[in-house]
Amino acid sequence: MELRKWGPLRGEITVPGDKSISHRAVMFGSLAKGTTEIHGFLQGADCLSTISCFEKMGISIENRGDTVLVQGRGLHGLTRPETILDCGNSGTTTRLISGILSAQNFDVTLTGDVSIQKRPMKRIIEPLSQMGADITSIHGNGCAPLFIRGKSLHGIHYTSPVASAQVKSAVLLAGLYAEGITKVTEPFVSRNHSERMLKLFGASVSTEGTTVSICPAGQLYGQKVMVPGDISSAAYFIAAGLMIPGSEILIKNVGINPTRDGILHVCRAMGADLTLLNVRGQEGEPTADILVRYSRLHGTDIAGAIIPTLIDELPMIAAMAAVAEGETRISDAGELKVKESNRIAVMAQNLTAMGADVTETEDGMIIRGGKPLRGAAIESHLDHRIAMTFAVASQCAEGVTEIRSGECVSISYPCFYEDLMNLSGKRR
Ligand code: S3P
Repeated sequence: MELRKWGPLRGEITVPGDKSISHRAVMFGSLAKGTTEIHGFLQGADCLSTISCFEKMGISIENRGDTVLVQGRGLHGLTRPETILDCGNSGTTTRLISGILSAQNFDVTLTGDVSIQKRPMKRIIEPLSQMGADITSIHGNGCAPLFIRGKSLHGIHYTSPVASAQVKSAVLLAGLYAEGITKVTEPFVSRNHSERMLKLFGASVSTEGTTVSICPAGQLYGQKVMVPGDISSAAYFIAAGLMIPGSEILIKNVGINPTRDGILHVCRAMGADLTLLNVRGQEGEPTADILVRYSRLHGTDIAGAIIPTLIDELPMIAAMAAVAEGETRISDAGELKVKESNRIAVMAQNLTAMGADVTETEDGMIIRGGKPLRGAAIESHLDHRIAMTFAVASQCAEGVTEIRSGECVSISYPCFYEDLMNLSGKRR
């Protein structure tokens, strides 16, 4: 994929549905009684992996494009898959499904692509084992492939060393089946889509500070789920609008759940001209239209409790910091090392290749902004968020930017390049 500066981005865009919410709607719909109707489902490869895993366990799922119909069979309705479950590139599928599979009355093996087979699974194996689960990392390295033998589980109070919605959700899903109450305490609050949606489906879930509790469920009931646009996908257009001179973009129907909206706070701290319009849906998942206009940005510090609320946006924020005036320090973000790629190393390497001044640190990076960017060969490391970040950065650089394996955007945003190009007035 070769890109060069096209000029300002102007107009309206609707980004695809939220990835975290789409996964959960299929999973909880599969475990519920009756039909779950999902509108605005993300047709990205990760969410299709979730659909395929549940189909292999006997769930009938009709994917009509924007709408998906899941015929749930109740909490105990899954059947033993005849083959290995393939979670593809999806950490959310692998970790959340492990919580569910730990409590079934069958055995299963699950795996994923090369990246998934390197990502840490001990973080779910540990708490689930404390609940009575029997999970083996087949190669003994704490990663997938995993062999899970279904067991009877009991509730625990787990204090997680990391703020991770995937860990929290895996434990809560196991808690649906466990005897007694299950609690998870995290160091900072991570995204709470599981809590919100499990309540919608009829589970008894409560939150107090950084602790979530769940009671074992008798039954979940199928629902209509409206999936808002993914703020993690909107992030590329928020940044593009702010970074590219002359730009003005209205991004419609974006999820602005407070556990996901850290990027909005950081942009404002950097001096962004950013307005939320039409804020609505406060009861379920709040949404808004986001209007961004080109702004002269300046550096900021990003650390602590805000990190989990913008963890997937940090690559884009780092590139934004490279065009901003002054220094940006990102810390407490060691989790970036265990995403689809080591996003600290990969961001530092690629931003440096474009002429930015970046120092990698143990838990983040320091970016001294304002150096002119030039086109370069960018290694995406098959990481969708790296490819999209540098497609945006290419629009602020002189010369040609080549994004290697850029087609990996299909994981979360299949028509990303078309949408970017359309806003620039260029059509393919
Ligand atoms: C996700 C949680 C986050 C995020 C990932 C999606 C989820 O991961 O990075 O893209 O849907 O629960 P962690 O829970 O590992 O932080």
